[in-house]
Amino acid sequence: MNVHDRYEALKSKVVKRKKEFDAFIGMLEQESSWLSSPASTRFHLNREGGLLEHSVGVAETLLKLREVCAPQLSEESCVIVGLLHDVGKIGMPGKPRYLKNDNEWEIRNRDMTYTINPREVYVNLAARSLYLIAKYIPLSDTEAQAILYHDGQYVEANREVAHREMPLTLLVHFADNWTSCIYEEGRVIREDTDYYERSDTK
Ligand SMILES: [Fe+2]
Ligand SMILES: [Fe+2]
Repeated sequence: MNVHDRYEALKSKVVKRKKEFDAFIGMLEQESSWLSSPASTRFHLNREGGLLEHSVGVAETLLKLREVCAPQLSEESCVIVGLLHDVGKIGMPGKPRYLKNDNEWEIRNRDMTYTINPREVYVNLAARSLYLIAKYIPLSDTEAQAILYHDGQYVEANREVAHREMPLTLLVHFADNWTSCIYEEGRVIREDTDYYERSDTK
């Protein structure tokens, strides 16, 4: 299934807050860089549509983890948190965070296909995700925590949440890491060993 069909399948899982969710998605698709934004300037999925690809992947991984570890959580919660956790990367509507890099040297030597918009008002990305989502969709405190702290203890400032994470926060953090490290970077786990390596396809 291509990424757009997978995206549509995820969207259909939001039922209770459909009206608010659809209004937010409509704004994102029509007035922001949501569908075209890369996921980063030079690391993972630094290509057009990379952010959507990453977001769909994380939501799908989160749904799989939910099934095994915490079926009590609603699918709707997992889709909202998983699909939108990095929405702060769009920047702001009308003011995209990532701009196509026109510096040939940086593209060739540093694989830096995008640059950060110099007009960006700096806000921590997870905080911007929460800010944008909460303007449209009523969130539970658990969902808010999961969005704000989805980077887990990789981010020093997240120390404050250590040992106080809700299950959804733990799961979205793991889903985010697993999706980017294993699926997106194409690392292959060798059968019958605990060793993995990057696939040749990357
Ligand atoms: Fe993130
Ligand atoms: Fe992410």
